[in-house]
Amino acid sequence: MDAHEVIRRCRRLAECTEEPGHITRTFLSPPMREVHALVGGWMRDAGLQVRVDAVGNIRGARGEGPRLMIGSHLDTVPHAGGFDGVLGVMMGVALCGGPPGPPLDVIGFSEEEGVRFGTPFIGSRAVIGDPVTDAAVLDAIREFGFDPAAIPRAELSREVCGFLEFHIEQGPVLESLGLPLGVVESIAGQSRFEVCFTGKANHAGTTPMHLRHDALAGAAEWIGLVEREGATVGCIAAEPGASNVIAGAARASLDVRHARDGERRRIVECILHGAREIALRRGLTVEWEQRLDQPAVAMECGALERAVEAAGYPVHRMVSGAGHDAMILARKVPAAMLFLRSPGGISHHPDETVLAEDVVAALAVGAKYLESWRPE
Ligand code: GLV
Ligand code: MN
Ligand code: MN
Repeated sequence: MDAHEVIRRCRRLAECTEEPGHITRTFLSPPMREVHALVGGWMRDAGLQVRVDAVGNIRGARGEGPRLMIGSHLDTVPHAGGFDGVLGVMMGVALCGGPPGPPLDVIGFSEEEGVRFGTPFIGSRAVIGDPVTDAAVLDAIREFGFDPAAIPRAELSREVCGFLEFHIEQGPVLESLGLPLGVVESIAGQSRFEVCFTGKANHAGTTPMHLRHDALAGAAEWIGLVEREGATVGCIAAEPGASNVIAGAARASLDVRHARDGERRRIVECILHGAREIALRRGLTVEWEQRLDQPAVAMECGALERAVEAAGYPVHRMVSGAGHDAMILARKVPAAMLFLRSPGGISHHPDETVLAEDVVAALAVGAKYLESWRPE
C-alpha cells in the first residue's frame, strides 16, 4: 500500500460523517459503524486479526509475542479536515502490509478530540486502564450496542511494549522550515473546563441596563481575559437563547495549554479567579467543572531520529501544542511520535491536507523504525 492509497483511504473515511457536506464524526456516532467496517476490512486485507473493544477502539494484530502498537484516532472535530487522526491509523495499516517485521497492533482510537462529552481521550484512556466512566459516556456505549462491563478488556496487553503515532503537524513550523517531517520531543499539557455563568433572564426591551444580570455579557468580558492569557474559549451557549431575552445562563468551554505545567496551572488560576471577580461585580454566579488536567509529556526520540536519518531525511525535533493519544499511551509504554508537514499550517478545518511526498517519507521512516525496533 503506497502513499497515494494511504491518502485515498483517509479521503474515503472522510465520507463517514454525521453532517452531510462536512466531516464531523464524534465518539460512537452512527458513522463510526461504517468506519469500523472500512478500517476492519483494510486491516483484514493486510492480514491482521481484528477486534473492536467496548469503547469502540478498533485493533488489528499481526504476529504473536512482544509487540509495538501503532495508531491514532478515528473521531474528528466538527467540520474537520480529512487527516487529523485517521492518517496515523492508515499509516499503521500500510506498514503492516510491508515486509515481515515485529509483531504489531494497529489501533484506531474511538475518541481523542473531546467533542461529544467535553472529555478527550476516551479511547486511549480505556486502553491504559483509566477509562472515562461518566454516566453519559456509559450511556453512549450502551446505545451503540457495547457493554460497559467489558471495558476492562480494552486494556493494553502486557505484550505491548511501545507505541508509535504518525500525525499531521497541524501547524506551520515544518512548512516554514521546508521540512517534511518532525520528531516530537514533548507534548504540551492541557487543562479543559466547562464554565457556567448564571444571571437572570429578563426582557431585553424593558430591563434597564443597571438592573440586568446578563450572563452572556459577563462571559464575554471573561473571554477577553482568557484571550489575553493565551487560552481558548471555542464554544459558548446562551440560555434561553433568543434575541429578545437577556441571557440567564452562559455555558463556555475553556482550553488552556502550556509546555510547562506550572505555567499552565498559573494561567488556569488567573482565569478562574477572573471569572469569580467578574461574576461578583456583575451580580452573577459562576461555577466550573474540570474535564481534563493532562500534564505535558516527554516523547521517546532516539530510535525515531535514527530512523529518520536512516531513511535519508533531515532530523528536526519539535514540541506539539496539540494533544495526542501518544501522551496517554506514554503513561504505560515508551511512546514516539512523528509529525508530517501540514500544508498552509491548517488543521481542524476542511482545508487540512498532507503532501503525498511527505507520506512517502513517513512510510520510509516507519519501515526503518520497524526494521530496528526491539521489545524493551
Ligand atoms: C486535539 O486535536 C487537540 O485538541 O489538541
Ligand atoms: Mn484534532
Ligand atoms: Mn489528532
